[in-house]
Amino acid sequence: MKKLILAFTLSVAALLSATALAAGPSIPLDKANNDLSDKESLKKGFKTYLNYCLGCHQLQYQRYNRTFADLGIDDADGVENYMYTGDKVGDHITNNMSKKDAAKWFGTAPPDLTLEARLRSPDWIYTYLRSFYIDESRPFGVNNTVFKDVGMPHVLQGLQGVSTLEVSEVRGEDGKMHKVSTLSPAMGGSLTTEEYDVVIRDLTNFLEYVGEPNKLERKNIGYWVLVFLFFFFILTYFLKKEFWKDVH
Ligand code: HEC
Repeated sequence: MKKLILAFTLSVAALLSATALAAGPSIPLDKANNDLSDKESLKKGFKTYLNYCLGCHQLQYQRYNRTFADLGIDDADGVENYMYTGDKVGDHITNNMSKKDAAKWFGTAPPDLTLEARLRSPDWIYTYLRSFYIDESRPFGVNNTVFKDVGMPHVLQGLQGVSTLEVSEVRGEDGKMHKVSTLSPAMGGSLTTEEYDVVIRDLTNFLEYVGEPNKLERKNIGYWVLVFLFFFFILTYFLKKEFWKDVH
C-alpha cells in the first residue's frame, strides 16, 4: 500500500513538473478583450485570416458554410468574397501547401489553427502577433518575445512595421538589478499602433470563435434560460400565494 501511495505521489509530481516545463517561463500577456458576440469584428478577423494566414495555416476542422452561417454571411456573398480555396461551401478551410515543403522552408510546418486559441489562449495569440522584433540572426530576420526563435516570418510587417528589442537594467524592489526587455514602438507600418491592435483583436476574436463555434450558441441559450427562469419565478410566486391563501 505504501509503495502504491509513493508511486502515485511521484507520478503526480512528475506530471506537475512536466506541465511547468512545457509552459516555459511565464511572460505577461496583454489582454485581448475580444468580444465573440461582435459579428462585424468576427467578419473582419475572418478576412484578415484569409488574406494573411490561410496561405500557410489551415483550419481543417472548420467548414466555410458553418462559418458563413455563424457570422451572418449569406452563401452567395461568402462564395464571392470569402472563398479563396475550396470548390463547395461545405468544404473545409484548407490550403494546398505540402507539409514536407513547408518544413523545409520554415524548419517546422505551420500548424493547423482550428484549436490554437484553446491550446494557447486568445490573450497569447493577441500578444504573439504584436511581439515580433528585428533579429538578424534568425532566418527571416525576426524573432518573437512570446515564442522564442519562432519559424514564422512577420507576415503582418507591412501593417505593423517592425520593433526592436531594448534591454535595460532596472533596480527591483529587492534592491538587485534586473534585466528588463521591452519592445520599441513599431516603425514603418501602414497602420498606427491602435489600428494594428484592433486588426489583431478582430483576428484573435475569429480564432477564438473557430476554436469553439458552439460558444456563440451557448451564450444565446444561456440568455434564454435566464429569461425563462425569471418568468418561471414569477409564476411560482403567484402559485405559492394561491396555495397559502386559505391557510392563514
Ligand atoms: C509564410 C507562412 C506563414 C504565414 C503566412 C503565417 N504563419 Fe503562422 N506560423 C508559420 C510557421 C512556420 C509556424 C511554426 C513556427 C514554429 O513552430 O517555429 C507558425 C506559427 C504560428 C503560431 C504558433 C503556433 C504554435 O505553435 O502554437 C500562430 C498562433 C500563428 N502562426 C498564427 C498565424 C496567423 C494568425 C497568421 C496570419 C496573420 C499566420 N500565422 C501567418 C508560418 C506562417
